[in-house]
Amino acid sequence: MTDNAVKDPYLRHLFDANPAFNVYNSELINLSVGAPGPDLLKNCTDLLAQSTKHRLEEEEREGKYFLFQYGITSGLWECRNELSKFLSRRYGNVVARENLTLTAGATHGLQLILNTLLAPNGVIFVDEVTYMIALDVFKQFSMLKITSVPMKNGVVNLDALENLIEAEAHSRKVTVGDGKIFWAMYYAVPIFHNPTGMSLSPDASKRLAQIAQKKDFLVVCDDVYNLLHYETDQPPRRLFEFDDPKSADYRGGNIISNGSFSKILSPAIRVGWIESGPRIVSVLKESGILKSGGAVNHYTSGLIASLLQLGLEDRHLDHLVTTYKERMRTLCDTLDGNLPSNCSYRRPAGGYFVWIELPEGCDADPFLKWCQERHKVLAIPGSRFSIEGKSRNYIRVSIGFHKAETIEKAARILCNAISEYNKEKHPDIST
Ligand SMILES: Cc1ncc(COP(=O)(O)O)c(C=O)c1O
Repeated sequence: MTDNAVKDPYLRHLFDANPAFNVYNSELINLSVGAPGPDLLKNCTDLLAQSTKHRLEEEEREGKYFLFQYGITSGLWECRNELSKFLSRRYGNVVARENLTLTAGATHGLQLILNTLLAPNGVIFVDEVTYMIALDVFKQFSMLKITSVPMKNGVVNLDALENLIEAEAHSRKVTVGDGKIFWAMYYAVPIFHNPTGMSLSPDASKRLAQIAQKKDFLVVCDDVYNLLHYETDQPPRRLFEFDDPKSADYRGGNIISNGSFSKILSPAIRVGWIESGPRIVSVLKESGILKSGGAVNHYTSGLIASLLQLGLEDRHLDHLVTTYKERMRTLCDTLDGNLPSNCSYRRPAGGYFVWIELPEGCDADPFLKWCQERHKVLAIPGSRFSIEGKSRNYIRVSIGFHKAETIEKAARILCNAISEYNKEKHPDIST
């Protein structure tokens, strides 16, 4: 067998393949992963049993069995209908059914967007630090140019974005056409950012939407954390709300809200949605992949329709918000009491992640390797979130998987480890 031969080890979940992500390894506490743990996932058995029973009874009652047929390209009508009611209620802002296209999760949504809407030799703007696997996705579209945009206080610096857009618009010859209506796209996580945890203010959102309309580029918002909000009754307003159809520059939509059930139900469900304006909906409807497959996850969308219709998702989400709010409070209180004074972080109002800044010169890559070996705690180093491998003195910590008591224990260990490491390796960095 050569080194290049395909191996097929007995792996049971995504995090099994790489020890740095294995949250199930009880010999250490792994704060790397943005996914729910077994204490939250266990509710899915009952939720899905109830919604499956309901949906199958509905199919019997109607007697047409469309649930087992190829579906329409935008996704099951009942699911989009229930989803529009659910999202309108939870956002406190109308989400129209006709603006929704069902996907197999936000990652699939992203790929669909890249395949259908963006010029093959276009430009993608990404935050200086952003969701690391989205960067892996973009790198595989090798004709696209990826440009990193500076950030300020954990969100995009709009002056810098505007300048970069201006510069790229004049320097690059991009081929638009055949549905690929956008010359450029800005990939954003505007609400409860991964990894910084911060959100774009309404004023900044308004400005960004205006820039997007004026320069006619696409903004794809990874809105997977919006509904996990801990400080206010309603989540921060999503960017899509600011893509104003009454504006003189409105051409049928420049902003996409790319949502998912992964963080509010189960990552394995693989159901998500794209919310977009009419010109984008029209392009997506013409996707050969959606047409040939008859929508993605048509059957599972039926279960989601019942889950929403029966109010089960509302109850589950309330439980998740209460649980995660407590975990976030625990983590941040522990950091407040224990983080060395030459480190800092900003307390997020929602989502999964806390972004810790270590002193300048302290490289989180070797530090976290050392911390894993010596103290059996690990998280993700900042360099992983940067297309240029920068932000080396940052760490991303997740509250997604572990219970509050485990998070508290790990955060204390991490804080003490930072002091110990710097004393040992960087005596010049004072605390
Ligand atoms: C910002 C962001 N987008 C997308 C995903 C993946 O979403 P999905 O499971 O819906 O594909 C994640 C998961 O960590 C994420 O953090």
